[in-house]
Amino acid sequence: METTLAIFLFLTLLLSFMSSFVVGQNGPRAFFVFGDSLVDSGNNNFLATTARADSPPYGIDYPTHRATGRFSNGLNIPDIISERLGSQPTLPYLSPELTGQRLLVGANFASAGIGILNDTGIQFLNIIRIYRQLDYFRQYQQRVRALIGEAGAKQLVNRALVLITLGGNDFVNNYYLVPFSVRSTQFTLPAYVDYLIQEYSRILEKLYDLGARRVLVTGTGPLGCVPSEIAQRGRNGNCAEEPQRAAALFNPRLVDMISKLNNKAGSNVFVAANAFKMHMDFIESPQSYGFVTSKVACCGQGPYNGLGICSVVSNLCPNRDAYAFWDAFHPTEKANRLIVEQILSGNTDYMHPMNLSTIMELDSRV
Ligand SMILES: *[C@@H]1O[C@H](CO)[C@@H](O)[C@H](O)[C@H]1NC(C)=O
Ligand SMILES: *[C@@H]1O[C@H](CO)[C@@H](O)[C@H](O)[C@H]1NC(C)=O
Repeated sequence: METTLAIFLFLTLLLSFMSSFVVGQNGPRAFFVFGDSLVDSGNNNFLATTARADSPPYGIDYPTHRATGRFSNGLNIPDIISERLGSQPTLPYLSPELTGQRLLVGANFASAGIGILNDTGIQFLNIIRIYRQLDYFRQYQQRVRALIGEAGAKQLVNRALVLITLGGNDFVNNYYLVPFSVRSTQFTLPAYVDYLIQEYSRILEKLYDLGARRVLVTGTGPLGCVPSEIAQRGRNGNCAEEPQRAAALFNPRLVDMISKLNNKAGSNVFVAANAFKMHMDFIESPQSYGFVTSKVACCGQGPYNGLGICSVVSNLCPNRDAYAFWDAFHPTEKANRLIVEQILSGNTDYMHPMNLSTIMELDSRV
């Protein structure tokens, strides 16, 4: 009996020693992802919602050639960041495979359809709104504490890289969803932007309180230039003006808000990624980036393949690398790679106050 106990204790100690080694200075840092469909890696597969990407041809260029819930033909932005960190892709938090040592790689809490506001994406029914994502992050930390102890868990979270992508749906799937939407009768566009920024700031402060210390915060992309908007609202194939105006108002305010939060924290915890500019580069000159077009989605139907959902009955382009947009809203893997390239090494017009290469360099010294 006593020998069994001793062996058990020894194994427990050995295991906690080994896991503290895994999260120690030399292991890749953990990675946590929050946000919407641009970064969802499959949480919605486990939910009763219409916002899903778990059937073909989604995932056609993914290593398994299977639909995984990623809104891409292949890898999404978090996957490519993980690749560059030298880590495994983070599993969706709802995945039953996310147990044991795999928890130490991090987790992806994102859910397609959500926004900054609780009332964004209500038409998608059962999705994980941002405050729920933060609750899950708290729950995740309890599970990690049980695995590697209090101090190890705290260090893992403090040293982690965090990505949060929110805001697009607050316009597309809320303010502009229907003419005379509740929010658009309640707020002028600039007042709505103020409100979103104020609420986003509360969310980022919560993330800080939960231990996040390096957080990439993406602004919205060029909302009026996605094939869906070009098809429905654009004139002669041009970007739709109104959503473009929204994105142009929102993004500079986000950078200001982040600077204020960093001043308050006394360090550069939050980094603004200018997704608008990153996209506009290849939207304005697709050929320079090897795309035949940035207006037509690879998968879809109707003008610019911008109407309805991408499914087995949609038009499908033979070469996904020649298209900037995979479906009516989401970039192809090729475009995601261009975006991550700028996240890593863009100048301060793209990454403010600094890029991810600089962050990794700084953090490797401490
Ligand atoms: C959204 O919901 C969360 C809790 O679920 C709440 O704490 C928060 O205040 C709500 N936000 C707004 C703007 O009502
Ligand atoms: C961004 O990263 C690159 C390294 O890839 C570096 O040379 C450059 O100075 C960085 N830019 C800024 C503004 O930090």
